Amino acid sequence: MIPFLDLRAQYHSIKSEIDEAVLGVLESAQYVLGEQVSNFEKEFAAYCGASEGIAVNSGTSALHLALLAAGIEPGDEVITVPFTFVATVAAIRYTGAKPVFVDIAADSYTMDVSRLEKAITRRTKAVLPVHLYGQPADMDPIVQIARRHDLLVIEDAAQAHGAQYRKRRVGSLGDLACFSFYPGKNLGAYGEGGAVVTDNPVFARKIRMLRDWGAERKYEHVMQGYNYRMEAIQGAILRVKLRHLDEWTSSRRAHAARYGEELAAIGIEAPAEMPYGQHVYHVYAIESVHRERLQQHLTGQQIQTGIHYPYPVHLTGAHSDLGYKRGDFPVAEHAAARVLSLPVYPEMDPDAPRQVAAAIRSFPAIRPRSTRAVGEVQEWSSR
Ligand SMILES: Cc1ncc(COP(=O)(O)O)c(C=O)c1O
Repeated sequence: MIPFLDLRAQYHSIKSEIDEAVLGVLESAQYVLGEQVSNFEKEFAAYCGASEGIAVNSGTSALHLALLAAGIEPGDEVITVPFTFVATVAAIRYTGAKPVFVDIAADSYTMDVSRLEKAITRRTKAVLPVHLYGQPADMDPIVQIARRHDLLVIEDAAQAHGAQYRKRRVGSLGDLACFSFYPGKNLGAYGEGGAVVTDNPVFARKIRMLRDWGAERKYEHVMQGYNYRMEAIQGAILRVKLRHLDEWTSSRRAHAARYGEELAAIGIEAPAEMPYGQHVYHVYAIESVHRERLQQHLTGQQIQTGIHYPYPVHLTGAHSDLGYKRGDFPVAEHAAARVLSLPVYPEMDPDAPRQVAAAIRSFPAIRPRSTRAVGEVQEWSSR
């Protein structure tokens, strides 16, 4: 059996450090924010190459507060991509602003920069690119276009802890960046968690107030805020895990390299790593026109897979009122119909990519049978 993810294996690999950190919090009786959270904020911001970090209770809250700090309000437009987890878009809508979509590029699955400028109107206030699957969006042109139009750039880095763009870590590329520490993320808490990082002290101060009822001092509520505070236990756990993140990223990248070799040997295209960056493989997705049948076939061979994501956000019921229709973002729609995420996590058996590739090869739709086999394989994996 090859699980999609094994969080218990990771816990066992660092059990003594985690147990000590958690027990320390229980003894401290400081359960919300406090020293563990503020130290984590400093350590995580430094890791990202940013000067300020604000820890919150989820990646969604991080996005919501980053948008509010950026001054986004009803009537504004925020440009993002339709091929993302729904939270990216929901957070824009929490502010009352309108999400405006730009299609993704077929190779990177991130924002197609060539379409960005056309989507800008006089209502546009910010651009929210997503570093999907752990691959940075093409940030230099995004930031250049945004600067030309006086727009802020907010990175959705929920899936991309430690990923690099031209040798700089995500989180230091735009005006604000948002992370999720949901348990399955590359840096995952043992519960919910998130953070905003930024170099801008004014944004940081506002986000610190917004996450804690709009107050800097108890009961002095100067703005309408939220209860988006991080729990101390999560801060303590994340501090331990941050020390292991680079080693875990190397392990994910080694698995991805093995997948690349094994898949190439059976004629299947591996996900592209763009030349400008370093992918951290939160998700390792291949494409198949027979995706549902292939997934069933792999399940039958005891290999767990996932689909990230089966519907682009513009075609979900929750956001149908935005007025988009099928065909509006063909690249995102094409990807949503074909992507299949294979197991990848740091503690995975290094032989797993070979086993997964062997199981894919035994899928009847691609089994080479004749000289036409190569064509069949290409059709199967074509983007
Ligand atoms: C791209 C993206 N944005 C935002 C989020 C929201 O994070 P959270 O689940 O911590 O609220 C996630 C996580 O699931 C995500 O993958």
